[in-house]
Amino acid sequence: MALDYSAKVMDHFSNPRNVGEIENPDGLGEAGNPQCGDIMKIYLKVDDKAPQGPIIEDVKFKTFGCASAIASSSMATEMIKGKTVDEAWKMTNVAVAEALDGLPPIKMHCSVLAEEAIHKAINDYRGKRGLEVIPIKEHEHEAV
Ligand code: FES
Repeated sequence: MALDYSAKVMDHFSNPRNVGEIENPDGLGEAGNPQCGDIMKIYLKVDDKAPQGPIIEDVKFKTFGCASAIASSSMATEMIKGKTVDEAWKMTNVAVAEALDGLPPIKMHCSVLAEEAIHKAINDYRGKRGLEVIPIKEHEHEAV
């Protein structure tokens, strides 16, 4: 049976925003789901001199995965671009799925990759700046 995807999921899957790599990124994060084998990489460029604190000046992604993972990467990168690093940390996979007008329940785990990859990229950035690395909440990787 075909899954029922929202128009926003189809739009971000067919026309993903922020695809690519950033050379010498300030932060690089990779998350994978061992069940389906999909992998997502997030690249961050951070402006440390912004008055409101470090902001995400640019963000790109590469996702080797399903339609929901690609749509989640695209939406998540749009949501954190221009935000402070602290604000970006607070973005949850549920917020990404809501911004996509929902994901089919068996595809919710695909949005988890975006949250995890962004957290890992922020921690990579924090480590490079000598800041404390924040513990990452482990998600269950349920079967697909
Ligand atoms: Fe693997 Fe979507 S991320 S099925």
